[in-house]
Amino acid sequence: MSTRPGPFDRADFPFALRLVTEAAAIAAHTWVGRSRKEDGDGAAVEAMRKALNDININAVVMIGEGEKDNAPLLYRGERIGKGEPEIEIAVDPIEGTTNMANGVDNSMAVMALAPRGAMFDLGPSFYMDKLVLPAAAKGKVDPAWPVKKKLEALATALNKPVSELRIFVLNRKRHHAMIKDIHDAGARTMLQENGDVAGAFMAVQPGSNVDALFGTGGSPEGIITAIFVRAMGGEFFGRVDPQGDDEATKVKEFGLDPAKWMSGNELVKSDDAVFVATGINSGPVCRGIAIEKGIAYTHSVILMAKTGARHDISSRAPVA
Ligand code: FBP
Repeated sequence: MSTRPGPFDRADFPFALRLVTEAAAIAAHTWVGRSRKEDGDGAAVEAMRKALNDININAVVMIGEGEKDNAPLLYRGERIGKGEPEIEIAVDPIEGTTNMANGVDNSMAVMALAPRGAMFDLGPSFYMDKLVLPAAAKGKVDPAWPVKKKLEALATALNKPVSELRIFVLNRKRHHAMIKDIHDAGARTMLQENGDVAGAFMAVQPGSNVDALFGTGGSPEGIITAIFVRAMGGEFFGRVDPQGDDEATKVKEFGLDPAKWMSGNELVKSDDAVFVATGINSGPVCRGIAIEKGIAYTHSVILMAKTGARHDISSRAPVA
């Protein structure tokens, strides 16, 4: 682990950064449980962008709301902030937009930061296949192995039978064959409709009753996950996994290889990386936000990859 001073070593940084996800969560709160995904997302994107422009960073959005053509704010390549240090950011103003709109558990505003040049450029990639492992399984499971072999190696690493393993998987058609393989091998699943950032968090959080995450979700979520998994001592692998011909063509033209698994260290080439989240609806990472009588009660989590430090910030602040 590096000991040289990094861009995030300033003592006030975690506190400043959490204002960004906090702003997005507060903006999203108005839209919780109204079945209006786009309105909630739009409000959170705008609030996050405004808050990023108010803090001392000189950032480039590496992955976020998409390409400039279809995302007017927080698009890939957008420059943001008003000072130093020079950094890169991956943003997801609402992770779990459907959960937010449905008013059910598990949605949050998230972002991850790293020094300039550290984040792998995923270009037009939208979907990523992921393997997330807890610390005890680090170096012991190859993402390219068949499901059964991965489960056997994971069970050995965790010193428990395969039948006691529980794997987080997003409940999607694309995963049906994999889910069957997991069950046929004797292991259990946690099938969730949304939110693989929370799933990855559980995979590396001791005592969560989840032992790993398998399967394909968003690419921004992948980069963000790679950073907090590093902070929590686990292991991340990802490979671009285009869903549909259009994405496949764009990814190929950009020079990305869907057959290649990349390690977390290839995807983010620095220990000086930070994960920041503020809860919208309560989930495994953060408590949800409440606003009562003009006061916002928020919970944010900041994880520093370099030191493994975790800061939990509960705030109580008047809102306009
Ligand atoms: P958003 O709220 O940003 O849409 O993400 C929710 C989510 O479930 C992610 O956790 C996951 O990575 C992604 O969607 C999976 O995408 P899809 O729903 O298209 O399979």
